Amino acid sequence: MIRVIGLKKSFNSHLVLNGIDLEVEKNQIVSIIGESGSGKSVFLKLIMGFLQPDEGKIFINGTDINSLDERKLLQIRKNIGYLFQESALFDFMTVYDNLAFPLRENTDLSEFDIKKRIKDSLSRVELHDVENKTPEELSGGMKKRIGIARAIIMEPKIFLCDEPTAGLDPNKSLSIMRLISDLARSLKSASIIVSHDVSNVLRFSDIIALLYNGKLITKGTKEEIFKTNQKEAREFLMLDS
Ligand SMILES: Nc1ncnc2c1ncn2[C@@H]1O[C@H](COP(=O)(O)OP(=O)(O)OP(=O)(O)O)[C@@H](O)[C@H]1O
Ligand SMILES: [Mg+2]
Repeated sequence: MIRVIGLKKSFNSHLVLNGIDLEVEKNQIVSIIGESGSGKSVFLKLIMGFLQPDEGKIFINGTDINSLDERKLLQIRKNIGYLFQESALFDFMTVYDNLAFPLRENTDLSEFDIKKRIKDSLSRVELHDVENKTPEELSGGMKKRIGIARAIIMEPKIFLCDEPTAGLDPNKSLSIMRLISDLARSLKSASIIVSHDVSNVLRFSDIIALLYNGKLITKGTKEEIFKTNQKEAREFLMLDS
């Protein structure tokens, strides 16, 4: 579903991604871990087509997204659920309107059906009676859940999550990761999670890759990752401490 080949991206003279290859299949959760500033968010923004690569290609369902005009790119994005690093909810809108936004933009659903979808999405993220609140009235964990509800409301075939547990305590981090993993499984989506929350990522991903110096230096299942000889990976994962 997602195929990335030889992806490179610099900003001015700063080389951030230096040749990334990655494939993510339907019903697979791939996590990319890496320290702050390593280029994780840049990688997801490239997949969304928010940024253009300097070199390399990104295929979504076989389509090279960088060959598309804006209208066709928007069509592709309808099938991608994107959880932003900072939730990116509209603070001036109610939860209801935040969730209705992608449906009003992208579908012809009636207000009756929109309401039903919103109720369903909120129950999938285990929230109730929050439709009339604004994001400011919600806790960090609840905002994450609303962000997740918005990301999945179009039933996306691709699910991208940027730092889903940032700023949450360990218990909330665990429940958010479990929720994301359950939703990704029920959508059977090709999912990419980028995070520096190593323990949760190891627990919920099929494949884990470490982004280091612009490259994915170690990539594999949890069991394979634990056996790596790569010094940087062993240090980042704290395998020897
Ligand atoms: N639009 C931009 N213009 C210039 N530089 C950018 C831009 N976006 C990102 N960068 C730079 O690219 C590098 C990688 O940034 P990115 O946000 O992808 O890191 P990250 O791995 O997501 O970090 P964090 O874990 O803190 O979220 C940083 O040095 C950042 O300053
Ligand atoms: Mg980031």
